[in-house]
Amino acid sequence: MDNLVERDFVKKIGILTSGGDAPGMNACIRAIVRHGTTCRLEVVGIRRGYAGLLEGDMVILGPRSVANIIQRGGTFLETARCEEMKTSDGVKKAIQNLRHENIEALITIGGDGTFRGAMALAEAGDIQVIGIPGTIDNDVYGTDYAIGFDTAINTALDAIDKIRDTAGSLQRPFFIEVMGKKRGFIALEVGIAGGAESILIPETETKVEELCLNMKHNFKRGKKSSIVIVAEGDDAGGVFSIAQQVWERLKLDYRICVLGHIQRGGSPTARDRILASKLGAAAVDALADGRSGYMVGELKGEITFTPLSDTCQKRKELDNNLLKLMKVLAT
Ligand code: F6P
Repeated sequence: MDNLVERDFVKKIGILTSGGDAPGMNACIRAIVRHGTTCRLEVVGIRRGYAGLLEGDMVILGPRSVANIIQRGGTFLETARCEEMKTSDGVKKAIQNLRHENIEALITIGGDGTFRGAMALAEAGDIQVIGIPGTIDNDVYGTDYAIGFDTAINTALDAIDKIRDTAGSLQRPFFIEVMGKKRGFIALEVGIAGGAESILIPETETKVEELCLNMKHNFKRGKKSSIVIVAEGDDAGGVFSIAQQVWERLKLDYRICVLGHIQRGGSPTARDRILASKLGAAAVDALADGRSGYMVGELKGEITFTPLSDTCQKRKELDNNLLKLMKVLAT
């Protein structure tokens, strides 16, 4: 797969959002359209991700089409999870449709599923492709933060703060399930910021006995409540099963709250809007420079380019120091 494509300057680019929507995607589309237009590019929005690309569902975008969207959650281009794009016929059709519209380059915003499709396009044709990380799960290799993560953790945190009020008043343990697919990035950060007593994440083995000991110990030391954050991908059978297993051992009245899709909605935070704007503009510059087959991300405050193949194959690690800190602060 390339890196720098030898060609005339790109004139027409497409944008799509794919997979789970994330707050900040609109801010990113806005940045691509406005910076792209300033660079004299024609910009086409592709509706409903790869599904819309395969159906040729497209709309020309100009600076005014993206007015008043920076503050909105979701994605105004809409999104989809598209099985057909995982097949070689799907990829061929996508390339045909892009060529038919004279779209020479594509920016895809999403998570690892989105980048698999993007990589297939970059490898199969002469279309330039740049990916931008947009997923509340923050599980993308090659960037410290993905667009949407900051908003999602703040939304979850707001809910956890409210639950803590009632948990303390009634002296109850609460098991709170957060999203994150198979990873614990959301659980870890909201666990620390929300002052949780325990977090259960897929990256570390969950031992119910140990959790029970912790909870007992906490109540003995005078804690009025116990907030247990459970990542949806935890391997101990899910929040309902874990809570039941704890009840069988401790016989403590408990409540469960599954935060679910509220974590994906809402107005993006300032951090997400700024990240989205920076990455959107950097993606346009990358296309103008002839780059293809990369994801633009931000590491330690610097804009970086990671091969899409790495984003699909390499695993982003959790910050072990944060994990240790979490345990110390829960005492
Ligand atoms: O990837 C984002 C995400 O919200 C995950 O955290 C969650 O597991 C999944 O999408 C939910 O997907 P859906 O909206 O299709 O139920």
